[in-house]
Amino acid sequence: MALYSPFLVLLATLPSLFFPFTLAISSTGLCSARPDHDSTLHILPTYSPCSPLQPSTPPSRFLDTLLFLSNRDVSRFSYLSSLLAAAPTSHRSFVPIASGRNLLQSSTYVARASLGTPPQPFLVALDISSDAAWFPCSSCSGCTSSSAFFSPNRSSSFVSLPCNSPQCSQLPNRSCSGKTCTFNLTYGAASISSSLSQDSLSLAADSINSYTFGCVVSASGGSIPPQGLLGLGRGPLSFLSQTKNLYFSTFSYCLPGFRSPNFAGTLRLGPSGQPKRIHTTPLLSNPHRPSLYYVNMTAIRVGRKRLLIPPAALAFNPLTGAGTIFDSGTMFTRLVSPAYTAVRDEFRRRVNSPVTSLGGFDTCYNGSVVLPTITFEFDGMNMTLSEENTVIHSSSGTLSCLAMASAPDNVNSVLNVIASMQQQNHRVVFDLPNGRVGVSREPCTS
Ligand SMILES: *[C@@H]1O[C@H](CO)[C@@H](O)[C@H](O)[C@H]1NC(C)=O
Ligand SMILES: *[C@@H]1O[C@H](CO)[C@@H](O)[C@H](O)[C@H]1NC(C)=O
Ligand SMILES: *[C@@H]1O[C@H](CO)[C@@H](O)[C@H](O)[C@H]1NC(C)=O
Ligand SMILES: *[C@@H]1O[C@H](CO)[C@@H](O)[C@H](O)[C@H]1NC(C)=O
Ligand SMILES: *[C@@H]1O[C@H](CO)[C@@H](O)[C@H](O)[C@H]1NC(C)=O
Ligand SMILES: *[C@@H]1O[C@H](CO)[C@@H](O)[C@H](O)[C@H]1NC(C)=O
Repeated sequence: MALYSPFLVLLATLPSLFFPFTLAISSTGLCSARPDHDSTLHILPTYSPCSPLQPSTPPSRFLDTLLFLSNRDVSRFSYLSSLLAAAPTSHRSFVPIASGRNLLQSSTYVARASLGTPPQPFLVALDISSDAAWFPCSSCSGCTSSSAFFSPNRSSSFVSLPCNSPQCSQLPNRSCSGKTCTFNLTYGAASISSSLSQDSLSLAADSINSYTFGCVVSASGGSIPPQGLLGLGRGPLSFLSQTKNLYFSTFSYCLPGFRSPNFAGTLRLGPSGQPKRIHTTPLLSNPHRPSLYYVNMTAIRVGRKRLLIPPAALAFNPLTGAGTIFDSGTMFTRLVSPAYTAVRDEFRRRVNSPVTSLGGFDTCYNGSVVLPTITFEFDGMNMTLSEENTVIHSSSGTLSCLAMASAPDNVNSVLNVIASMQQQNHRVVFDLPNGRVGVSREPCTS
């Protein structure tokens, strides 16, 4: 039966209906809440069986699911790419919560947060390529029915920011609704209208007073994360900027595998508790795209062989947006065409078995094969992928596909994206004061 031979990694993305095993996990309580402590939050993949944020009409078949997920990547990738070229410098001065241009397609991971007094709980999507912060509010039209709505009138600490507030004057596309500051932005395909607001945000054991966010009053044209967004981009006035005195612009995460039943991953905010001995690579700054985490990927190895890739395919260029970023909201690593072709060809040469394709993946094998390791070399740091970061497997073990792709055909792309599947079960540390990113292998457990 086709339904019982899906890729294992994607098993968790399918409706429990088709997977009694997944259902059993949920019903034995493994999905139950783990307490967040200190400044450490637990992370859950949006599409894991325990997530309440699974699509309400999930794709009914495995292949549909696979295509659905890689299509999400394609649209996010197109959006990322569209942001790069000719971004006017005036966008540097953004925003308490969001430049629309900083907003991307939806994220893949969620963490617990609560807003207001007394606290109202949410599962916020994490997106390191965005500076935005917003929650769907109780009057929201066009928000999905699975949304948890924030009720401003049930919070004693809620403040609606007026039109003449300094924060309001920094927003693009703003207008006044009575005295209230409202603004419009785009998130992927969605158009969102919000009112500019402040309230207490609680993350793990921490409380952030007067946190500035968008209270979403209407959304149309595309789906948005149903319970809000926590953008962890490094642009001005982002979450990291607002919490500078608390977290010193430092955080790390461990993204759990898609199969993880629980909040196995962690988001650790602030410098304390971060790994001390870890290889790092310098962060590069692109003034046109201040929120993105650019790094200098200098080479790619398959096995011991360092591939011949034209330097321009990896070079950082702030004007065109070319280079390499880490992203948490893209699922499968995308490389510019000459880089991907070099990886794929050497990978195929090493495996030396008949190749098939499936969905967006062009390098799949039926039966057991010996896989070469893939290493991304950065300035000062190497990231060697384990097998779980390299291929997705069928549950019966017969099919495995190289879990990367080249930039979508219709996108004139210059950007390499190190995506979440390749980062799973690694600790990835973002240390902005020292201008660096560190990566080390770490099985995610809380
Ligand atoms: C402002 O609104 C226009 C039209 O709705 C939209 O195209 C543009 O992206 C918005 N700008 C920002 C910065 O969100
Ligand atoms: C809060 O607002 C909602 C919708 O705007 C309304 O239904 C509810 O009665 C209000 N609650 C209070 C306590 O005012
Ligand atoms: C924001 O969007 C709303 C609803 O689509 C529209 O009525 C309003 O004119 C827009 N405001 C701005 C400043 O673009
Ligand atoms: C990236 O690293 C290469 C090799 O070390 C170096 O030549 C290049 O200048 C670096 N690029 C940036 C933007 O630091
Ligand atoms: C994989 O190989 C097995 C055994 O040879 C065969 O039964 C199956 O149909 C093949 N699957 C695909 C997708 O080619
Ligand atoms: C990364 O790997 C290359 C090739 O094996 C090696 O020369 C280099 O020293 C490594 N860099 C680090 C920081 O380990």
